[in-house]
Amino acid sequence: MDKLEKALEKARLLRQAHLSSGLMKSTAEASPSKLKDIPIGTVSISAEVLEANRIVAHRTRSTEADLFRILRAQILQTMSKHGFRTLAITSPNYGEGKTTTAINLVLSIALDLKQTVLLVDLDLRKPSVHEYLGLSPSYGLTDYLSGSAALPDCLMRLPFDRLSMLPVGACLDHSSELLGSPQMGALAHELKTRYPDRLVIYDMPPLLAQDDPLTFVPHVEAVLLVVQDGVTKVSDVKRSLEILDSANVIGTVLNNSYKLPSFAKT
Ligand SMILES: Nc1ncnc2c1ncn2[C@@H]1O[C@H](COP(=O)(O)OP(=O)(O)OP(=O)(O)O)[C@@H](O)[C@H]1O
Ligand SMILES: [Mg+2]
Repeated sequence: MDKLEKALEKARLLRQAHLSSGLMKSTAEASPSKLKDIPIGTVSISAEVLEANRIVAHRTRSTEADLFRILRAQILQTMSKHGFRTLAITSPNYGEGKTTTAINLVLSIALDLKQTVLLVDLDLRKPSVHEYLGLSPSYGLTDYLSGSAALPDCLMRLPFDRLSMLPVGACLDHSSELLGSPQMGALAHELKTRYPDRLVIYDMPPLLAQDDPLTFVPHVEAVLLVVQDGVTKVSDVKRSLEILDSANVIGTVLNNSYKLPSFAKT
């Protein structure tokens, strides 16, 4: 695409976004009945479950999927510019769209054909990535760290090329102690270095509610802050950025927004 075509395409996406009723608000647009279940060896991901949980990035003709393609481009450009391969996604408070953003982002990245990506569920107290994908993992990160499962048995290959997931496994109450442990540091290092071309994206709990994200942030190169349009208080965003002072916050995502761009560099 030349520069003019790129500009026209961007303008088209912006127009569509203004016309849309907010990022991912309408799941009725892509009829689930038109989508087929996607096989994954012995398990499958149901298209209906994805739609019900606002996982939309795999849609071909969709304003919402286009927004995630734009977010993907912005994130990949920023990460590549700095040579970053690990990203934590967090937000100030509960329910602001971290997990929905994380899954849609990794899906969009994997569908880009160039990039392998691993999504790690690091919300150890209330994991939801597997639920949003309709999966029931047998093992996960905590099982690996407790020595009851090998890492390959915990990793799940999703039915999209280049995309895998590490679920939580057994939930933990003392999650920040685990996240700060040398074993967790070693695992983060292993995930980052095993495949040099792979991006590792962590879905985290909220910053202002738990110390888990802050405990883990030293193990990632970049942080993406999700804020919810009209809901997240400015004071909470400021507080979060203060807390993340020593981290590389590469941008914020305005979730549930009526307008683009939803990504802003900090
Ligand atoms: N843009 C959006 N439009 C409408 N609903 C949304 C949007 N983004 C997320 N949601 C819904 O809001 C709820 C919370 O989203 P999600 O689980 O992604 O947030 P979270 O920040 O990960 O929450 P938690 O802090 O509990 O982990 C879900 O029901 C999700 O489907
Ligand atoms: Mg979440």
